[in-house]
Amino acid sequence: MKALMNQLRESAVNAILNADSPESLDALRVKYLGKKGELTAILKQMGKLSAQERPVMGQLANQIRAELEQAIDQTREKLEAAALEARLELEAVDVTVPGEDIRIGHKHPMYKALDEIKDIFVGMGFTVLDGPEVELASYNFDKLNAEEGHPSRDWSDTFYFDTDSRVMLRSQTSPMQVRAMETMPLPIRIVAPGRVYRKDEVDATHSPMFHQVEGMVIDKNVTMADLKGTLNLVMQELFGEGTVTRFRPHHFPFTEPSCEMDVQCHKCGGKGCPTCKGEGWIEVLGAGMIHPKVLEMSGIDSEEYTGWAFGMGLERLAMRRFKISDLRLIFENDVRFLEQF
Ligand code: PHE
Repeated sequence: MKALMNQLRESAVNAILNADSPESLDALRVKYLGKKGELTAILKQMGKLSAQERPVMGQLANQIRAELEQAIDQTREKLEAAALEARLELEAVDVTVPGEDIRIGHKHPMYKALDEIKDIFVGMGFTVLDGPEVELASYNFDKLNAEEGHPSRDWSDTFYFDTDSRVMLRSQTSPMQVRAMETMPLPIRIVAPGRVYRKDEVDATHSPMFHQVEGMVIDKNVTMADLKGTLNLVMQELFGEGTVTRFRPHHFPFTEPSCEMDVQCHKCGGKGCPTCKGEGWIEVLGAGMIHPKVLEMSGIDSEEYTGWAFGMGLERLAMRRFKISDLRLIFENDVRFLEQF
């Protein structure tokens, strides 16, 4: 039995030390030391031994077990070190290889135009405000004097969230007028850029989501002349000196009188061309003197204070500013287009 055990010891140690993978090492552990392993099998026969032989053999068996375990540990460490070495080799980084070019992004031309517009207004003492795109109909309509039944409140024009038409995607930035009137001390000078939503089909000049820049001034003795003067100045700064504008009468529920402002077409100089649809002019904003009812609804004394407001179409202005011919280019975000600005 002793000879048998020594033989086992020799072949087992040999096999273990030569194992070439963690898997085969594990298999060897099971083969020799497992419950049905070879050493265990020998130990099971101990019962047949004499009382003198038994402790001697028992001791030998323990010794062999310890030796095999040690050989297994040693081999495992060796294999792990080799695996690490191989991985380091494989994943070695050559720091001298030139790196891949990182493509630097561009500011979108519309936001470039917006930055310029904000700068111009901030330079004139205006504060820039941000507000919610999910808006209460009371702010988008009621407090702006657009009563129940006003055509713009129609379900076919507006994205509502609820069946009783109380929560909606704002269809204009004008609710920011009310939000400013309700929260800011007088006098007020604000611009509020942001997204607005209407159920429009997409074509060269329409999109269901577009951007406006709202502007508002409320102070004592503010007149329509201030509105025209301010907007004219802004257009000169944005599009260059000599930019020609015109004001046309219009109607909005929250301003009285109301107007729209056009900028002369940069392409044809007013003669009429495809860019201005033959008009010679491009409409860029709606504006007017804030209706006294609107001031009063927000707690401002319309006898003491007057104000004006405007809402610019940002895409239109950006198109005019950077000579972009089709609105869809602004939304497609084709890098080849964006890279030109
Ligand atoms: N909110 C109006 C629109 O979307 C524009 C506007 C703003 C008109 C402020 C007058 C005053 O068409």
